[in-house]
Amino acid sequence: MSIMRPIAIIGGTGPAGTGLALRWARGGETIILGSRDAQRAQDAANKIIGRIGIQAKVSGMENSAACAAADILMLTVPFDGQVALLKQLKPAMRPGSVLIDATVPLAAAVGGRASRTIGVWQGSAAQQAAELVAKEVSVVAAFHNVSAELLNGDDPLDCDIVVCSDNADASQITRALVAKIPGLRAIDGGKLENARIVEQVTALLIGLNIRHKGHAGIRITGLPPAAYQ
Ligand SMILES: NC(=O)c1ccc[n+]([C@@H]2O[C@H](COP(=O)([O-])OP(=O)(O)OC[C@H]3O[C@@H](n4cnc5c(N)ncnc54)[C@H](OP(=O)(O)O)[C@@H]3O)[C@@H](O)[C@H]2O)c1
Repeated sequence: MSIMRPIAIIGGTGPAGTGLALRWARGGETIILGSRDAQRAQDAANKIIGRIGIQAKVSGMENSAACAAADILMLTVPFDGQVALLKQLKPAMRPGSVLIDATVPLAAAVGGRASRTIGVWQGSAAQQAAELVAKEVSVVAAFHNVSAELLNGDDPLDCDIVVCSDNADASQITRALVAKIPGLRAIDGGKLENARIVEQVTALLIGLNIRHKGHAGIRITGLPPAAYQ
């Protein structure tokens, strides 16, 4: 069943954004890919339509237009672009929107290693995002620990998505979106401040990928079945 609301993927032309778009579009969701360049967004959308078929509901727009056209916003930009972009997009975001942030503050953003992170004054990239948007926009941290390369493939995934937010409804919407992707399980990870831990795990996974040449994800075990629904 579709969640019946378009999802705008801001910075949606990179591997993380296109991978999520591909998976959600396959599940029947309406996707708007956002980019700093409208033509680049449209080209990326056309590639996804080429893979799924003309029934896929995927379009491309400049980021501000994408924000204005949806109230579920998925942010998939590098850490070094997050602040300036959110400041620019703030006026375009509709009150009541859900902003799902997957940003990882990798040291690579400042010339360091992708297997290390840099400190964020607010505690996490997601908390930084929450400071930058209007208070009527609910920020959720999710999708940090799933490989974009695997998202862009055709096989079911094998990963848990820890979802952190201070807004219960926004967390619920995000967990429903996780459940749309075969092989992903959503787990309520509590408050947005827990994003600082989830973001750090990605740096560990990148290090493991380099060491073992793979596409690592995470599974959380030992919780009652209801925790995974
Ligand atoms: N790759 C993964 O496996 C993975 C997994 C989980 C989470 N993440 C996180 O998800 C985010 C996106 O990852 P990615 O690998 O898809 O990143 P990416 O390819 O480096 O960037 C994604 C898109 O962001 C836009 N962008 C780049 N720099 C920007 C800037 N300074 N200002 C505004 N927009 C900018 C670009 O789109 P346009 O040029 O079209 O505007 C680009 O295609 C990152 O924070 C990453 O840590 C990645």
